[in-house]
Amino acid sequence: MSLTVTEALKQRISTRAFLGTPVSESEIREILDAARYAASGGNVQPWKVVVVAGETKQAVTDAVKKKLETDPFTNEASFPVYPEKLWEPHRSWRYELGEDMYALMGIPREDKGARLNWLLKNYEFFGAPAGMFFVIDERMNQNQWAHLGMFMMSLCLAAEERGLSTCMQEAWTPHCDTVAKVIGVDKPDIVYCGLALGHADKDAKVNQLRSKRAEVDEFATFKGF
Ligand SMILES: Cc1cc2nc3c(=O)[nH]c(=O)nc-3n(C[C@H](O)[C@H](O)[C@H](O)COP(=O)(O)O)c2cc1C
Repeated sequence: MSLTVTEALKQRISTRAFLGTPVSESEIREILDAARYAASGGNVQPWKVVVVAGETKQAVTDAVKKKLETDPFTNEASFPVYPEKLWEPHRSWRYELGEDMYALMGIPREDKGARLNWLLKNYEFFGAPAGMFFVIDERMNQNQWAHLGMFMMSLCLAAEERGLSTCMQEAWTPHCDTVAKVIGVDKPDIVYCGLALGHADKDAKVNQLRSKRAEVDEFATFKGF
C-alpha cells in the first residue's frame, strides 16, 4: 500500500541495522528516477550519485578502515562536519541523540571502546547491501549544497515508499578523498556524504530509536495572519 508524503516523512528514520537481503539495480534506478524530480535553484541539479554494492562497496569499507588504522584524525573534507563549537539548542539536540541511541543499546558513556565500535559500523553501511555516495562539483556554493540535500531527502522518501530504508551518512565525509579514489570521483567533483540503503532489520534495537523534534512554534514564526 502506498504511503502519503506525510506518512513517508513520519515513517522514515535513519536505519542503523539492515538485513542482508539484496536490493537490485533496477529498484535503485527507480528510486533515483523519482528523486531526480527534486527542485534545485535555477534547475541546476547539482547532484551526482555513485551507487555501490558487492566488491566495490567492500573496497570502500576496506580503504576507509585502513585509513582509520593509520591516520584516523585527518579530515579530508575542506570543512568540519559540524561547526567547531555547536551552540544551543542544537548542541543539546545532538547530545541527546547520542545519549538516547547508546542508552537504547545499553552502551554506557564510559565504555568508549563499545561506542567507537558502534561508530565504525558506519563504514560497513550498517550491514546494508547497497550504499550511495553523493557527489558535488566543488565549485558549487552553499546554495547548491542545500539543493543536494533536498535531492537526498527526496531519495530517502522514494526509498521509504518502496519499503526500503536508508541512513544518510556524513561519517564518510572526513574520509572523502579516500572514498573518491576507490569509486573513481575526480576533482572538481568531490564526495560529500554517504547513504546506506536496504531492508531494515526490524528486530534490531537501534532501529527503535525515534529522534525528537522541536515543536513548530520553536522554529517557526507567523506574521501577518
Ligand atoms: C546529511 C546527514 C548525514 C548523517 N550522517 C549520519 C552518520 O554518519 N551516521 C549516523 O548514524 N547517522 C547519520 N545521520 C542521521 C541523523 O543522526 C538523523 O537524521 C537525525 O538524528 C534525525 O533522526 P532520524 O533520521 O532517525 O529522523 C545523518 C543525517 C543526515 C541528514
